[in-house]
Amino acid sequence: MTSAEKPSFLTLSAVEVSGRAVLARCDLNVPMEAGAIIDDFRIEAALSTINLLRGGGAKVVICSHLGRPKGRDPGFSMAPITSRLGELGGFPVRQAPDVVGPGVERLVGELLPGEVLVLENTRFEPGETKNDPQLAFELSKLAELFVEDAFGSVHRAHASTVGVAERVRSAAGPLLVREIEALGRFVAEPDRPYVVVLGGAKVSDKLGVIKNLLPKVDSMLIGGGMCFTLLKAQGLEVGNSLVEDDFVEEGRALLEGPHGDKLVLPSDLVVADRFAAEAGAKVVAAGAISSGWLGLDIGPETQKLFAQIVTEASSVFWNGPMGVFEWESFRSGTAAVAAALSECQGFTAVGGGDSVAALALLGLEGQVSHVSTGGGAGLEFLEGKELPGIAVLARWVDG
Ligand code: 3PG
Repeated sequence: MTSAEKPSFLTLSAVEVSGRAVLARCDLNVPMEAGAIIDDFRIEAALSTINLLRGGGAKVVICSHLGRPKGRDPGFSMAPITSRLGELGGFPVRQAPDVVGPGVERLVGELLPGEVLVLENTRFEPGETKNDPQLAFELSKLAELFVEDAFGSVHRAHASTVGVAERVRSAAGPLLVREIEALGRFVAEPDRPYVVVLGGAKVSDKLGVIKNLLPKVDSMLIGGGMCFTLLKAQGLEVGNSLVEDDFVEEGRALLEGPHGDKLVLPSDLVVADRFAAEAGAKVVAAGAISSGWLGLDIGPETQKLFAQIVTEASSVFWNGPMGVFEWESFRSGTAAVAAALSECQGFTAVGGGDSVAALALLGLEGQVSHVSTGGGAGLEFLEGKELPGIAVLARWVDG
């Protein structure tokens, strides 16, 4: 099933959870710095499903990945997430020492209805990202029902997203359903003009997305570090800005391709003499970045144009900041796009950790139609791709 088709899965209202061990796959992969959580949006977002399960009398077992550890690494333990979940939820939450195994099975066996246990980081298990059948089997032993609620991870065919759902009766969680409904508005027949704004550091991460989404949108606005590879592909001088030279050719092919005219690149930029918050900054035309200078934000003329296109759109999806918004001198491009989304009368959605964090920093998270918990998953959904973590749920619809 692709995201353009009507999703088929059981929802929580169709399954009995009372007294059952329910394994909920959440996406609690939150940004961390020196062991501290810097944004708990995904934990907050998971809470309503967890509370629903608790209220329904389920014995709630939660699993998630955190970061990209290479095997077991205490720096990636779920423990800080588990304590924050307990604080935010106002209920006790236990932390399992492992992902699977006899010790974990014992803890699950001791759970009473309404109690919550969080498994260790699923990526501590080498079989997780390989969708290893043995790990999926071990996970399936922990649950009488599996609830997929990790929208941010449904583009991954991992043991905790697909393997386990092949083995245990599974339903879509309410957060996943809300995401599919909201982002589905961009897939089927989006209200037009349909505009996608992409930013962030790496063009290589998003080239496939640009290629697949470009035929579907009316305009695609590109800012952030990724714009420099495309500006270079246009033959412009980009100084010391971030460029992925291996992708310049592909960028050129996109710009010269049948939908290249829908790509809107910055016409001016805020450049800095070094990569630092307090660097000397000035505005220059795109193509006039001297050697030794690097672009860290879109310029005022571009901000005005992007804001106009966004405000006049009927559907807008935004993923990725326009500049280094964490530093005040390079925030105005991201702020201009965020403000334009909040003024747009159409359907507006924001996805990706950095854009959601920027929105929160600017106090605008209540001003858009939908704040998505998905980063890459949201973009793949918009591309119309089949997402394995959603597709696998279909097998339980008739059983
Ligand atoms: C995300 O943050 O986009 C999801 O949690 C997926 O993480 P991953 O890219 O490490 O699989």
